[in-house]
Amino acid sequence: MPMASVTFDDADLAGDPAGGDTFSLAHISDPHIACVADIRSADLLGKRFFGYLKWRLHRNAEHRESVLAVLQHDLADTKPDHIAVTGDLTHLSLPAEFRQTRQWLESLGTPDKVTVIPGNHDTYVKTAWPHSLAHWTDYMLSDDADFGNTPASGFESIFPSLRIRGRIALIGVCTALPTAPHLAVGTMGNRQLQTLETLLADTADQDLFRVLMIHHPPAPGTVSWRKRLTDAPALQSLLARYGAELVLHGHAHKTALGRLKTPDGHVAVIGVPSASAPGRTRQHRARYFTYHITPRASGWHLRIAARVYSPDNNRFMAEHENPFSRLP
Ligand SMILES: [Fe+2]
Ligand SMILES: [Fe+2]
Repeated sequence: MPMASVTFDDADLAGDPAGGDTFSLAHISDPHIACVADIRSADLLGKRFFGYLKWRLHRNAEHRESVLAVLQHDLADTKPDHIAVTGDLTHLSLPAEFRQTRQWLESLGTPDKVTVIPGNHDTYVKTAWPHSLAHWTDYMLSDDADFGNTPASGFESIFPSLRIRGRIALIGVCTALPTAPHLAVGTMGNRQLQTLETLLADTADQDLFRVLMIHHPPAPGTVSWRKRLTDAPALQSLLARYGAELVLHGHAHKTALGRLKTPDGHVAVIGVPSASAPGRTRQHRARYFTYHITPRASGWHLRIAARVYSPDNNRFMAEHENPFSRLP
């Protein structure tokens, strides 16, 4: 199994247009699009009631659709080749939220240009598939999935997903599952871990740049115990044996930089703040990172461009502070 080395360019974060063999992948996450204004009391049973209260108390100030609107314009300007969305598109898993997030996804691009995985808020409570994640099926499916006669009916039929764009392999896993009200944990489960092992090996054999998309951070110390990935050690051991070239996650609602062991060193594990956050602190302000990935004679070159929401200008701007200097 050939292993690829990745070198980083952390000197230029402004985001020059890429050319030639370079593939540009934008990473956004956690928009938390909510439809609670005209919520019915029947929708507020169980965990949703607590989530609704939290929204009323402070979450509605943490996420703004106006920020998503300017993000859409900025992405239209920067024109990444592909967009990765790592979960928590909805807030309470309400059917109305899934319908609205479908429209939001369409505003970003067609399903072949945008890849989505779910987060824990997208399975906040158990919701019938046709009224929930079925709305995003074509944004989640693997390239070779054929659901013409048998529609996808759940995560088991979709994840892990594999989409190959040029020499980039986008590998998506689902860690989302309904939990008790005070928990926001995620789990991959043995079935996904086993299939992922095969996917990582096969895509390494094809000399592809492997991007693992996962909602819950797999590196230790990023989120609290109640928000953790319960089987992170199993995924870490898989990466230590098979490697990956980049791991992207959401869930933490802040820029998070970590690394995990691979057979030839380490892989960068990078989280991005919520895409809709005006930001109570600069650290939590909406951002997106674009990865410019270029093949080299041996391995890959990766340049990262960061763009951050500016409340003063109500637009996204290049971020020149260098958060990536301690990448592997
Ligand atoms: Fe989130
Ligand atoms: Fe989350």
